[in-house]
Amino acid sequence: MQIDLANTSALVTGASRGIGAAITRAMGRAGARVAVHYHNQRAGAAALAAQAGHGAEAFQADLSDADACAALWKAVSGRFGRIHTLVNNAGIALSTALEGDIAGWVDGWDTTMAVNLRAPGILSKLAIAHFVEHGGGRIINITSRAAFRGDQPPYLAYAASKAGLVALTRSVARGFGKAGVLAFNVAPGFTRTDMAGDFIEQYGEGYATGDLALTRLTEPDDIAPIVAFLASGLADHATGCTIDVNAGSYVH
Ligand SMILES: NC(=O)c1ccc[n+]([C@@H]2O[C@H](COP(=O)([O-])OP(=O)(O)OC[C@H]3O[C@@H](n4cnc5c(N)ncnc54)[C@H](OP(=O)(O)O)[C@@H]3O)[C@@H](O)[C@H]2O)c1
Repeated sequence: MQIDLANTSALVTGASRGIGAAITRAMGRAGARVAVHYHNQRAGAAALAAQAGHGAEAFQADLSDADACAALWKAVSGRFGRIHTLVNNAGIALSTALEGDIAGWVDGWDTTMAVNLRAPGILSKLAIAHFVEHGGGRIINITSRAAFRGDQPPYLAYAASKAGLVALTRSVARGFGKAGVLAFNVAPGFTRTDMAGDFIEQYGEGYATGDLALTRLTEPDDIAPIVAFLASGLADHATGCTIDVNAGSYVH
């Protein structure tokens, strides 16, 4: 069995670093043409696009802006023509203290929801129409273990946004499977990226590794092959599922 993404194209959001960069490399290795989305890290995204090959290109968008989400989809589909896979990976984990004032807390909540949930919603809406018109496609949403077990008090919005993403995926799977649109959740636990670095700084390395069944922290390259596999069509009858990638922390 081989994961073959030749002659397919994908939009991977938040591809400039961390898990999104690893997904881009894995999908490129399998032959996909990847639209490497970034927010601020233009150089990283451009270098990654060159490395991924198969005509990969970098695309900028601030996904906290609803219009920019729609413009991103338009730019990528205009340039690539057919898109086969949407990977909603971009995400933020803002620490918002409950002890702070209400305005600051609401601001953190709204920004988190805009990037982590509204943006995948807008991109999914546009992708569904595109996929239905072109004979099908796959949406892979990078959610989190936090969707299921919750998170620390400063990350209430983060956990809620990721739980919302799980429900979005399931609704797409239910609603559009017969039209050829498949949808999957991948739910990482702690994974060694800049985002996890912020958590580890706040709560210590032991917080990240203490509940693992394995010896080392998950790396982005431990997540990426699963996304490439889901994109390949080999797992279409798992539509609506969530694949946990958390180093066995549920069973430890
Ligand atoms: N790391 C973990 O432990 C962990 C655990 C569970 C789930 N996850 C999820 O996995 C996904 C990737 O996380 P990561 O750890 O790889 O994160 P990361 O290293 O912090 O990278 C975040 C990515 O999202 C992009 N991004 C941030 N804000 C954006 C905005 N306003 N508009 C558009 N793009 C934006 C960044 O773009 P620029 O770099 O170009 O600014 C970057 O490419 C996220 O959805 C995260 O919630 C991560």
